[in-house]
Amino acid sequence: MKVSFLDLRTQYKSIKKELQKAFDDIFENQQFILGPYVEKFEKEFAAYCQAKYCIGVNSGTTALFLALNAYNIKAGDEVILPVNTFIATAEAVSMCNATPVFIDIKEDDFNIDVKKIEKAITKRTKAIIPVHLYGQCADIDAVKKIAKKYKLLVVEDACQAHGAEYKGRRAGSLAEIAAFSFYPGKNLGAYGEAGAVTTNNEKIAKKIMVLRNHGAEEKYYHDLIGGNYRMEGLQGAVLLTKLKYLEKNTNLRRNNAASYSRLLKENKNILTPVEQKDNRHVYHLYVVRVPQRDKIIEQLKTAGIFTGIHYPVPLHLQKAYKHLGYKKGDFPVAESAALQILSLPMYSELKKKEIEYVAQKLNALVKI
Ligand SMILES: Cc1ncc(COP(=O)(O)O)c(C=O)c1O
Repeated sequence: MKVSFLDLRTQYKSIKKELQKAFDDIFENQQFILGPYVEKFEKEFAAYCQAKYCIGVNSGTTALFLALNAYNIKAGDEVILPVNTFIATAEAVSMCNATPVFIDIKEDDFNIDVKKIEKAITKRTKAIIPVHLYGQCADIDAVKKIAKKYKLLVVEDACQAHGAEYKGRRAGSLAEIAAFSFYPGKNLGAYGEAGAVTTNNEKIAKKIMVLRNHGAEEKYYHDLIGGNYRMEGLQGAVLLTKLKYLEKNTNLRRNNAASYSRLLKENKNILTPVEQKDNRHVYHLYVVRVPQRDKIIEQLKTAGIFTGIHYPVPLHLQKAYKHLGYKKGDFPVAESAALQILSLPMYSELKKKEIEYVAQKLNALVKI
């Protein structure tokens, strides 16, 4: 049997007719940039996230950058973020000419270790970006408590957490501002690049709408130095269509995760994901921890099972951030996790027999 890491084709087939109708409409009306589909999506996604405003942009990286930029994060500022995340979280800080400051992660859920934040705060610290990694919210109340004490901005990196909940509230409305990615493989994915910012702050929402459009509210009259960060009309149509199915698909992901966890629980050498109390994990990724991970990846591949690593190198050991002066041993939890984490195939359409096959093979490969 072959089990892909991700399959987007099955979903495409199920919504092909709806998409075609929206695409025809866009081609007829020639509204390729922003336009009514993007506007409708922004409204509906804001409501879904329990936020007042949503601004559609052209990637999650852009969304993070604009969130920081709108709050005037600039050269000389420091921004705190977890060391185990996709590099875009740090890149957005660098794009503002500010400095990323890394924090180790927690052993149980791989999210930022809030207990380690305070020690990293300096006079230059301006913001914290908790990442809701793999689809589970970071401990945002604890982050906000520190932020309040030191008057820091909190930007949620919700790029992997569409629909995730923390104490009954949705990702995207848990702090001042949040960034989402709609990269095709995300729980809500476009058919190309796309992202969004959500916030309850009207002034900031308006500023980001201007920044994404070359700093102009009125064409050719530029109040701010912005750029071209707009969402395409076709992506708006894809996202609006798919948003209707996000809850159903999230529940399917959660069921798939529960099946994996049930089938793997007897094996004490396989650590399965922990869903924290009061959280709704949306399982963008189902990440286990196993010894001899690299060998197991190869053996699973031979059995037709394709997996991933998120992420193999913590940010402080990436060449791109060498100049920050971190060294091996600075973040021991993330460093040891990076050698053992393994992302199993995870998507809504994954079949029961595929989950059983993956679990059976993994159980056999990881000796108790
Ligand atoms: C945690 C995290 N932050 C930021 C991003 C950047 O999003 P995009 O790829 O849409 O620029 C991603 C997407 O891969 C992500 O997973």
